[in-house]
Amino acid sequence: PHPAELERARRLIREVPDYPSPGILFRDIAPLLADGQALRATVEALIAPFRGAFDVVAGLEARGFLLAGPAAYASGTGLMPIRKAGKLPRPAASARYALEYGTAEIEAHDDLPAGSRVLLIDDVLATGGTLIAARTLLAELGYVTAGTAILFEIDGLGGREAFGDPALHTVFHS
Ligand code: PRP
Repeated sequence: PHPAELERARRLIREVPDYPSPGILFRDIAPLLADGQALRATVEALIAPFRGAFDVVAGLEARGFLLAGPAAYASGTGLMPIRKAGKLPRPAASARYALEYGTAEIEAHDDLPAGSRVLLIDDVLATGGTLIAARTLLAELGYVTAGTAILFEIDGLGGREAFGDPALHTVFHS
C-alpha cells in the first residue's frame, strides 16, 4: 500500500485515555476498521512481508479475529481462531500467560495438518504476553510460526524484547 494511505489509516486509530483502567492509553482500531480503504491498506501491509510463506492465518480473540479473517481471505489461505479459554468444545492445547493481575489462558483446535506454516496476527502488542503464549500454543500443536504481524505496537512496554523475534512485523507503533 501507498505510504500516504497507511498514514491516513494510522490517524484513524483512536486514543482513549484511562481505559480500561486509569493511566492506560487504549488504542481503539474501530474507526480504522470502519473505513474500507484503511482496512484494505492495513491488511495488505500486515501480510506483505510473508506472502507465499504461510499456509494459514491465526487470529487472537477477539480483536485479532477482525484482522485475521480479511488477511486469510486476501491471501487465499485458511483461518485458525485462537480462543480465550472456555470457548471451545474440544481444545487440543492451551497456554497460560500473565496479566497485570492474575493469569489468562488461550486455547485452539488441531484442525490443520502437522507442520502447517502459520502467520500469527493480532491488533495490538503491549507486554507481549499474549503473543508468547500464542507461539507456545502453535508449537505445542505441531505447527510452525511462519511469521507474526501486529497492527499496532506500543513502544516502551518491553513486548518486542520479550517476544524476541527479529522478524516480528508491526505496521504502526507508538
Ligand atoms: C489485547 C490485544 C492483544 C493483547 C496485547 O487483547 O488485543 O491481544 O491485549 O497485550 P499483551 O501484549 O500485553 O499481551 P485483550 O486480552 O484485551 O482481548 P480482546 O481482544 O478480546 O479485547
